Amino acid sequence: MPKTLDYFAGKTILITGAGSGIGRATALIFAREGANVVCADINQSAARETADAVDAKGARALALTTDVTRREQVSAMAEKAIAAFGGVQFLFNSAGAAIRRARFLEIDDALLEQTFALNVNGTFYAMQALLPHMLANKAGVIVNMASMAHKRGAPGSSIHYAAAKGAVVTMTMGVAREFAKDGIRALSISPGPIETPFQAAAQSSPELIKQFLADVPMGRFGKPEEIGELVLFLCSDACAFMTADTIYVNGGGGWR
Ligand SMILES: NC(=O)c1ccc[n+]([C@@H]2O[C@H](COP(=O)([O-])OP(=O)(O)OC[C@H]3O[C@@H](n4cnc5c(N)ncnc54)[C@H](O)[C@@H]3O)[C@@H](O)[C@H]2O)c1
Repeated sequence: MPKTLDYFAGKTILITGAGSGIGRATALIFAREGANVVCADINQSAARETADAVDAKGARALALTTDVTRREQVSAMAEKAIAAFGGVQFLFNSAGAAIRRARFLEIDDALLEQTFALNVNGTFYAMQALLPHMLANKAGVIVNMASMAHKRGAPGSSIHYAAAKGAVVTMTMGVAREFAKDGIRALSISPGPIETPFQAAAQSSPELIKQFLADVPMGRFGKPEEIGELVLFLCSDACAFMTADTIYVNGGGGWR
């Protein structure tokens, strides 16, 4: 929670991947705090649904159809967000995916490129699009979605994804340190398994569910809201000395 009551009222967060899972849960949490929420997603109707849910909570929303792998679309997204609300104080890059599971020798060029385009380029473009605005205001917080996978490399299923999330962690640290004296903070979050459509494939197989949960001492998946509340805390004025690092949220495990 923020230190200052109404800290988020009238401030604006831009969320990529806002149409589902962690992005959508975070949008609703910021709406609860009275923030304006820019809901960007490649899936137009999903972005619209999240924006409608934000509206229904009495906060202001803007739905944008954006493919974060396309720099020109990301630049347009940033421009429209700033124009709609007069400024953007927070950026949450939630758009991301492992695309598909594959053993290391089965990762082909297309899978590697798509995974990096979405998780790395998408995050990179959004930060480059919004940082000049944040620097001009001498304020801004960027939160990027990484994953526990970056810590152990995800052998046997998604080394392509783990490597991309490793790049997100490193890029976030670099940006945080480069702009630390300019009023900008940047952090990444590295969750274990969270119950969202991202995990739907795993959840459809009792064997995979067992495998995931065997590695989580709490014996359950995390909830998307548990990540959303963390994003709120990181963006708030509660602990403004925090920057650069990745925060693990994993029920005590998820170190596969
Ligand atoms: N769920 C988990 O277990 C878990 C664990 C660790 C990290 N993560 C990370 O958290 C983030 C959110 O995951 P989630 O579980 O909410 O997934 P999700 O599949 O529920 O949501 C991802 C959203 O991103 C959107 N998206 C996909 N490609 C896009 C593109 N090119 N441009 C814009 N939007 C695009 C999708 O349409 C979807 O709405 C991802 O970066 C994911 O890698 C998830």
